[in-house]
Amino acid sequence: MNSQQAGVENATPIFKAGSTPKRYTVTSALPYANGPVHIGHLAGVYVPADIYVRYLRSRGRDVIFIGGSDEHGVPITIKALKQNTTPQAIVDHYHTLIKDSFEKFGISFDIYSRTSSKMHEATASAFFKELYDKGCFIEKTSMQYYDTEQHQFLADRYITGTCPHCHSEGAYGDQCEKCGSALSPDELIDPKSTISGSTPVKKETKHWYLPLDRYEDFLKKWILEGHRDDWRPNVYGQCKSWIDLGLQPRAVTRDLDWGVPLPLPDTKGKVLYVWFDAPIGYISATKELLPEDWEKYWKDDQTKLVHFIGKDNIVFHCIIFPCMLKAEGSYLLPDNVPANEFLNLEGDKISTSRNWAIWLHEYLEDFPGKQDVLRYVLTANAPETKDNDFTWKDFQARNNNELLAVFGNFVNRTVVLTHKYFEGKVPSVSETAYTEADKECLREMCAFPDRIADSLEHYRFREGLNELMNLARLGNKYLTDNEPWKVFKTDPERVKVVLNISLQIAAHLAVLCEPFLPFTAEKLCRILNTEKSGWDAAEKEELLQGGHLLNPAEFLFEKIEDEVIQKQLDKLAAIKEANKKNAKPNYEPQKEAVSFEDFGKMDLRVAEITAAEKVAKTKKLLKLTLNTGIDTRTVVSGIAEYYKPEEVVGRKVCLLANLAPRDFKGIESHGMILMSENPDGTLCFVEPAKDAVVGMQIR
Ligand code: 2FM
Ligand code: ZN
Repeated sequence: MNSQQAGVENATPIFKAGSTPKRYTVTSALPYANGPVHIGHLAGVYVPADIYVRYLRSRGRDVIFIGGSDEHGVPITIKALKQNTTPQAIVDHYHTLIKDSFEKFGISFDIYSRTSSKMHEATASAFFKELYDKGCFIEKTSMQYYDTEQHQFLADRYITGTCPHCHSEGAYGDQCEKCGSALSPDELIDPKSTISGSTPVKKETKHWYLPLDRYEDFLKKWILEGHRDDWRPNVYGQCKSWIDLGLQPRAVTRDLDWGVPLPLPDTKGKVLYVWFDAPIGYISATKELLPEDWEKYWKDDQTKLVHFIGKDNIVFHCIIFPCMLKAEGSYLLPDNVPANEFLNLEGDKISTSRNWAIWLHEYLEDFPGKQDVLRYVLTANAPETKDNDFTWKDFQARNNNELLAVFGNFVNRTVVLTHKYFEGKVPSVSETAYTEADKECLREMCAFPDRIADSLEHYRFREGLNELMNLARLGNKYLTDNEPWKVFKTDPERVKVVLNISLQIAAHLAVLCEPFLPFTAEKLCRILNTEKSGWDAAEKEELLQGGHLLNPAEFLFEKIEDEVIQKQLDKLAAIKEANKKNAKPNYEPQKEAVSFEDFGKMDLRVAEITAAEKVAKTKKLLKLTLNTGIDTRTVVSGIAEYYKPEEVVGRKVCLLANLAPRDFKGIESHGMILMSENPDGTLCFVEPAKDAVVGMQIR
């Protein structure tokens, strides 16, 4: 019997697009507890999820925010092996560290649980058993790799070898990190056991598979027809290409001793595949949070389920987990999965193994009290539609030119002037004193709550934040246009109006910034001497009454100096240097033979670079002028990340002179300079000897 024949039907949400559901279940991907969390985690998943949840709470909606650590899977056992400790000790350590980092960044989970808990084991086991009893799995015996020294089957990362696609060494049994291909152990060339280094043998073993192919019709209808318009194009597109390629049965069990044991007789040494148990972790955490009430958050058709994840998790949350839920029959399916793309760091992919990351626990040490600055920068530059780059210079600029110069400056001027002229009391004014411009400013102010809400309801967090800053810009402009500091001597009544309106804007900022900048909101409420109020309050014009006493002014943000940023850049440069030293060469196999005649067709000669400049709006390209002995020509070369223009002028180079001309950003390039690739992926010149003569042939 397959799932479509199973008795129970999944609840289909009945709230219409645009209407408000009765409650929300918001989940955020469970990070593996085998290392600390970094800015990529925060930008991709936890900050947007937290903004969404804080916004919903501010609107008074019924919402639960679920998080936790993913504590199973082979990377954890391998780390334990390397460190000569137990997997439990590894996950205990990192679970605590990760939980603490999230808390300090104000990620406001209702529960931050873990998948090594008893509750999770019981929930995941029962889920598997339910599907098993319904006949949703296929049982299959096959030959799989086995380490005869360690007496262990080699699943996923327990096996490494050469990638069949890009030929790099060290590809894992589930994925090649170099080219990103998903792999199965059988595809690896020259496989080796990660544990003993020995060559494995094949041995028979039985596993349980979820036949994803049987769910194609359901997925086509649910995603391709049902979510074409409301899911992000990157998410929809990835789902479509998986479905179009045709789905295969997927093993949901493994021969391992770390994980949720299979709840079937005679299956000792078998556990659930980590990607089967991890998403069930969202359900176990809900049960832990609300033992009596959890079901309505997962089964009631008035609940909206939203998964926040990074793009590498799309297939699991949009295809595999929904098929599991569909097979079980009584659970809701996600209403949306607003997955983000990746965040890079200073132009390079964030990498845990290369230590190329900004770790949250280190940021907290280096920038105490500046959690909102990072939340701000990561949202303003969020990788919502494409991969984005975090740079320390941008971080500094956004702090100094936006948070400090716009938001902080506006609030500070307003509060300081109120203390100076009116003993810190909100001046009372009558509406009859308003000019047309005042009324227009108030009208504009009142439009922000709806505008920001619309962005957030549709998961457009960058846009929402930009609108928030527009409100601060409105306030700044209003103050500057009205110059109360100049007017006070001649017209103190006018200053009352100006400061009253400015204070109303500041109070609106306090409400509307809370989802994005919770620590700033708290500080601003303290300065304004108000309690935190809900979103709907901001629809009113007057949040602060005449006569209300403010607290003394405090700075909301501080300038970040160049030295502080340079320290961070130096830290990254040192990491890059260390990686360069440690990088292992990856020898590509020899290419197909070419005839001597073919080689002879290439015009290779010594040339000299006489001028160089960066190609505008590109990161990688330099426009070079070359003296080739026979002419002066332009060659565009992709070396700008490794060489500055002034470093290349005067160098002799090897030039492939008769390469057909190519256009790069409107510049015609006549030839190619030979470069060699270093083990860390950087490039260096293949340099002719000092006495080589420009224009001479290379043979
Ligand atoms: O990619 C990851 O870090 C996974 N640990 C995410 C799991 S999300 C969920 F399914 F638990
Ligand atoms: Zn590869």
